Amino acid sequence: MPDAPPSLAELAEEGRGAIAAAGSTAEIEDVRVRLLGRKAPLTVLKRSIGDLPPEERGRVGREANQAGAELAALLAERTAALEAEELDRRLATDRVDVTLPGDPPSSLGSLHLITQTRREIEDVFVGLGFRVLEGPEIEFDFYNFTALNHPPGHPARMLQDTFYLSGGDTPPDSPPASPGGGPPETPQASTDVLLRTHTSPMQVRAMEAQEPPIYVIVPGKTYRRDSDATHTPMFHQVEGLAIDEDITLADLQGVLLAFARSIFGPEREVRLRPHYFPFTEPSVEVDISCFRCGGTGVAPDGGRDGLCKGSGWIEILGAGMVDPNVLGFVADRGYDPDRVQGFAFGMGIERIAMLRHGVPDLRLFFENDVRFLAQFGR
Ligand code: PHE
Repeated sequence: MPDAPPSLAELAEEGRGAIAAAGSTAEIEDVRVRLLGRKAPLTVLKRSIGDLPPEERGRVGREANQAGAELAALLAERTAALEAEELDRRLATDRVDVTLPGDPPSSLGSLHLITQTRREIEDVFVGLGFRVLEGPEIEFDFYNFTALNHPPGHPARMLQDTFYLSGGDTPPDSPPASPGGGPPETPQASTDVLLRTHTSPMQVRAMEAQEPPIYVIVPGKTYRRDSDATHTPMFHQVEGLAIDEDITLADLQGVLLAFARSIFGPEREVRLRPHYFPFTEPSVEVDISCFRCGGTGVAPDGGRDGLCKGSGWIEILGAGMVDPNVLGFVADRGYDPDRVQGFAFGMGIERIAMLRHGVPDLRLFFENDVRFLAQFGR
């Protein structure tokens, strides 16, 4: 004979025990299904009440409902307690440190190669005792050309090379009257203000702001009306200026040699070739010995090295001894050409980066294609 079905009292008692024994929200869910689910003994019993003799139906139905309600209440209470316990445990163990880097960190990006290169160049010159200055990209013709000894017909002054700002009849601020007796500057309405074509205007601005000796470099954006594989309308330069007593071309050569060796390798040599700039005298173009062929001009396969075009030398910048006429514009700040002299140089940051990293086209720097930029991520 099969066991008699458990009584309601037994079902309720067993239910209370199961609820109390459940140790997790997963377990309590199992218990709920076992006690009150569709196949639970209590549910089966309720469904069979109609089979009972009529006089028992009322009492059994009431007691079954009571037992069900009690178990449901106990389940809700125990479930809430277990959820709270589990939350407390998670809060204690999964503490989130909001100051940690985001996830995934690789999506953070990196410094642009031009920025990296600029910083490396700055580091070299700061190590040599130069200060880093910045200056305006929108510049007066006075600083960009006049004070830099550009003769009136100089091609760089012309519209084909220079972006002049138009739209205002007078510049926002008049350039200072040339204090050192240089040619007076007559404001020429809208052609008086331009996007600087080089960082050299900061030579005069820096000297206006500080008496000699001065050792500064000036990184920044420059603009010319030019666009092809090796020219973009906006590009970056680093200017260098050193004025002191007894500075010679040999100091320029020594500083640039230290620079070349830091950036392009300890084996590098530098070579100065005569050149012309309006604001330096003498002027030079500076080459470094080719870091690919070691200065031989010969490629590993015996042919001509393509990087230096077989010459063994690569041009990296323009430089020279600051022209006394330029110092004349800041003579009242102590730049007496009979007492102080010095050198200046200017280099393109893009050119340095292209040489070092074998970048074939200047425009890649400014197209913002992450496939290009990410190669230099660090
Ligand atoms: N400003 C010159 C250029 O852009 C470079 C230069 C700077 C040359 C300083 C001499 C001295 O070509």
